[in-house]
Amino acid sequence: MEKKDLLYQGKAKKLYQTTEEDVILAEYMDQATALNGQKKDAILGKGAMNNQITSLIFDKLAQSGVPSHFIRKISKTEQLIKKVDIIPLEVVVRNVAAGSFSKRLGIKEGTPLSFPIVEFYFKDDALNDPFINDQQVLVLAIATQAEIEQIKALALKVNEVLKAWFLSLDIQLIDFKIEVGRTKDGSILLADEISPDTCRLWDVHTHAHLDKDIYRRDLGDLVPVYKEVLRRIENNQ
Ligand code: C5P
Repeated sequence: MEKKDLLYQGKAKKLYQTTEEDVILAEYMDQATALNGQKKDAILGKGAMNNQITSLIFDKLAQSGVPSHFIRKISKTEQLIKKVDIIPLEVVVRNVAAGSFSKRLGIKEGTPLSFPIVEFYFKDDALNDPFINDQQVLVLAIATQAEIEQIKALALKVNEVLKAWFLSLDIQLIDFKIEVGRTKDGSILLADEISPDTCRLWDVHTHAHLDKDIYRRDLGDLVPVYKEVLRRIENNQ
């Protein structure tokens, strides 16, 4: 299979068509961004770490019956994925108050939520990815009611699997973001990536940040922290 035209360049990934119509090659870049791209830096080795972490997480989810776009990792920074139409929603699951939830609602970071919640944000850089409710999703024809239910169930299943797995690595899964896509036959698949870029991960004992908040909040060097997450995942294989 060969790499063909560049289809899309995001903040941390490039997507290429391959010689197979329904297969895309995703290349993870050595780049970190925050604040909707206002903060941006090259970080050597980040692409390879996120490619490896995402691949191991998607394998783990597949073993637990979560359908995703992931096919296989083919090099340090590249993986093959199934072609899907990305639904323009950032689907966030929260177990513990943090980040925008804490800021908007005035709830101290680290406060446990009595049950995991699912939130939708409309993926639109120009609008700064605004919070959007189910009825707004319906009225904008972003997804159908049945799809909304499926997406929420998928998000909660991902949470259930990853929360337990991370806990066995002494990591508390505070919250995370996923994206989902539709295949040609209309089924919904987990897409994009799941990595320390898209999750809040706290060390169970020290509550240290093991995620992109290190970069967002200028708390230090992101590389050793992502390496530590990868080390714990690999030791548990
Ligand atoms: O900023 P906020 O608290 O809403 O983020 C919730 C979760 O979603 C965090 O784990 C964050 O890493 C993730 N997220 C993301 N991409 C965004 C916004 C949030 O991966 N554009």
